[in-house]
Amino acid sequence: MALAERLRTRGDIIERQVQLFFNPSRGLKEDYDRAYHHNLIEVGWPAGVVPLFDPRVKENTCAVVGAALGDEGKGRIVDNKVTSLLEIPEVQLVQVIRFQGGNNAGHTVEGNDGRKIDGHLVPSFYLYEAAVGIIDQGVIVHQDLETEVGYIEDRVGDVGGRLIVSENAILATDLERAEEGLNKLKSSGKTDGGTGRGIGPSYGHHTDRSGTVVADLIGRQWREIFSNRYDQYQRDFAAWGLSLSDTEVPDFEKSRVTHTNETRSLGTKAEYLDRLEHFRDWLSARDFVRNTYCMHRDAYNNPSIAKLFEGAQGAGLDVWLGTRPDVTSSNTSVYAVREGTGVYIAENIEEKIGVFKLTYTSDVGTMRHLPTQIELAREIRKASDLAPGATDDEKYGANVRDEGHEFGTTTGRPRSISFLDFEIMRYNARMSGIETLVATHIDIARKNRPIKVCTHYTDARGNVVPYQPGLKYLAEVNPNYLVLPGWDGEACRSAKSLDKLPENAQKFLSFVQARVGYPIVGVTSGPSRDNLLIFPGYNLRHS
Ligand code: IMP
Repeated sequence: MALAERLRTRGDIIERQVQLFFNPSRGLKEDYDRAYHHNLIEVGWPAGVVPLFDPRVKENTCAVVGAALGDEGKGRIVDNKVTSLLEIPEVQLVQVIRFQGGNNAGHTVEGNDGRKIDGHLVPSFYLYEAAVGIIDQGVIVHQDLETEVGYIEDRVGDVGGRLIVSENAILATDLERAEEGLNKLKSSGKTDGGTGRGIGPSYGHHTDRSGTVVADLIGRQWREIFSNRYDQYQRDFAAWGLSLSDTEVPDFEKSRVTHTNETRSLGTKAEYLDRLEHFRDWLSARDFVRNTYCMHRDAYNNPSIAKLFEGAQGAGLDVWLGTRPDVTSSNTSVYAVREGTGVYIAENIEEKIGVFKLTYTSDVGTMRHLPTQIELAREIRKASDLAPGATDDEKYGANVRDEGHEFGTTTGRPRSISFLDFEIMRYNARMSGIETLVATHIDIARKNRPIKVCTHYTDARGNVVPYQPGLKYLAEVNPNYLVLPGWDGEACRSAKSLDKLPENAQKFLSFVQARVGYPIVGVTSGPSRDNLLIFPGYNLRHS
């Protein structure tokens, strides 16, 4: 029986997700045969299923989060989503709301005119006059914001009045960045270094209640607060025999230009306070800081103001449920909208999308070794860099790294490449509160290049074992692979509907949907706005 016939309601879909979650190898052959032998292509919501009927849902609300390990292509999906929200007749304004993470995130959006803009902390609203960006209370704000806003304004013009920073947003200063380095030293390099943005220490101090928020900098007592903090850090550093003022902290403004890791010394207390004062003056002059709680109260029941919650990082980097210890320090799921805004809850959100790369997974983790990771030296940038006799897996990884431009946005560091892992995906999808998937990078495939996917794990005795978060557990499992045929990735770009995609791409999508258990409602085939295909029966808005 076709999957669509078996899945009549949303409850059926959830039941199937649970079945797959606990019995990852059950029904594998049937799903393979349906897609690859009987050509049953089942992608998107099964016809007739009403995706949402929760009375708490607010109209014209959407969340987009990463379903893998960050850098899945969320920025462009957010960008596409702003367009589609603005096409709804009643919508007059879209609020793009960042609710977690900081400028450890990177997202690229590309306008119709081919303009490409890399954002970090600023939400992806700036290409639209009728959109505002909100950096909400769950986000870590650093004074680098000024540079980023300058960079964006050079490209799109003044964003004044359209960018809001919550007065309760957590503040990271150079002290927390220096502390990130100290923590690495203290653990003798055993903890993940992080991106150097001070994210771990800032969230840590939010939890231990010793941190600062934007309001502390804006308030009258600011000099005293930050002067005391400097003294306290100076004592801590001295205890480790280190001089705080000479400590080098990352200089991302310079790195942005040179594409290498640049640093500068933290400086004396006077220099530190001068830099903060400059940022304080800038925030005030630009009038960016607001009580976002009041803004949300006014917009909450107003469907003419659409809300788009933009996640950073990805489910696999969640502090609790990711690939610990190589994770970020926040909750990266849709559920984090609650803490991140203080007003909205996941149940309020009409559409919850998880984004993933269709044919492989990439990540920038320093300690992370995933079960399906391809052993590929960092210096390999393309297949021609490989030594003679390289394995097929190495060739696959090198090609994907090259074709998918899998190099970090700031430093250009090559990312690790792993085969698509249904176990991780199922777990991430379920625990991150999403309801649908959008796949990116369908073009990273070639006709005569088979694609390996991991269907389930077994232990040393061959027993099927489920996914569990944490690198320690993952080091013990063996991935079981299926090898599926590739397709002409270039041909995907011109396809205007699912049935115009190469046949093997359709089958692959159908098989992934069946085995992960979440409707795949769209796919991207390239970086520009046009390279997005929404699947039939689904228009990114369930009308
Ligand atoms: P932190 O978030 O700076 O503490 O970094 C912790 C880990 O998360 C490191 O392995 C980072 O590379 C990773 N990470 C943080 N943000 C992102 C992101 O936006 N994309 C991919 N990896 C990220």
